[in-house]
Amino acid sequence: MIDIHCHILPGIDDGPDTVEESVALARAAVAAGTLAIVATPHVSWDYPVNDAARIAAGVAELRVALAAADVPLQLRTGAELAMTRAAELPDEELVALRLGGPEGTHLLVECPLSPTATGLEQVLGILRSRGHEIVLAHPERCPAFQRDPAAYERLIAQGMLGQVTAGALVGRFGRTVQDVAHRFVREGLAHAIASDGHSAERRRPSIGPELVEAGYGEQASWLAHEVPYAILTGGPIPPAPAMPERRRSGLARLLGR
Ligand SMILES: [Fe+2]
Repeated sequence: MIDIHCHILPGIDDGPDTVEESVALARAAVAAGTLAIVATPHVSWDYPVNDAARIAAGVAELRVALAAADVPLQLRTGAELAMTRAAELPDEELVALRLGGPEGTHLLVECPLSPTATGLEQVLGILRSRGHEIVLAHPERCPAFQRDPAAYERLIAQGMLGQVTAGALVGRFGRTVQDVAHRFVREGLAHAIASDGHSAERRRPSIGPELVEAGYGEQASWLAHEVPYAILTGGPIPPAPAMPERRRSGLARLLGR
């Protein structure tokens, strides 16, 4: 698995506070079958000092700590950009903040958790016109998209990608978010599943077990390896596999129906 959304760097946002906690998060990710993590600290007005240079330095330091602790996890640079911050940043900085760094093509932009997403489509359109492709982070948790899925579908129809959070598929954000997450995956409106991990225990950095539990074991390679790899390397997004037509309940799965 390649995790394109994870708050693994220490002391930079609401992820781990210490290097030791970051190493514990990395160990938990490896134990769940993750081979590589893109460090995506918040770049927003809540964390105004976070920039590409700070993130690159954090990744370099954590790589040393992971090697010393013998944790076989690859780390890449990235960011989770708030739309209000993204609109203010120069292109040079945005290129450095892409998933995978300057070799990548996509920015990870946070879908607002506020009741409305006013201005999001315009900001995203401006970013794309400036040459930055877009991955939309956790659209299933965005109240505006829950209420108006067509607004989200419009963005996907324009060529943007959607990243659904693994924990959402197994109900860690409640029933509404779970239902929307499954709908987006089944209807081809989600292209990557990531952990959005914040610590080894709380908001775990895990993808593979959740995909199996949620009934997407056969699609896991596309959702959590092939598409993330294409995003990081700037390659074409591979064709999607067939998705299950409907979500089966836990009881139906147990009974094999
Ligand atoms: Fe996040």
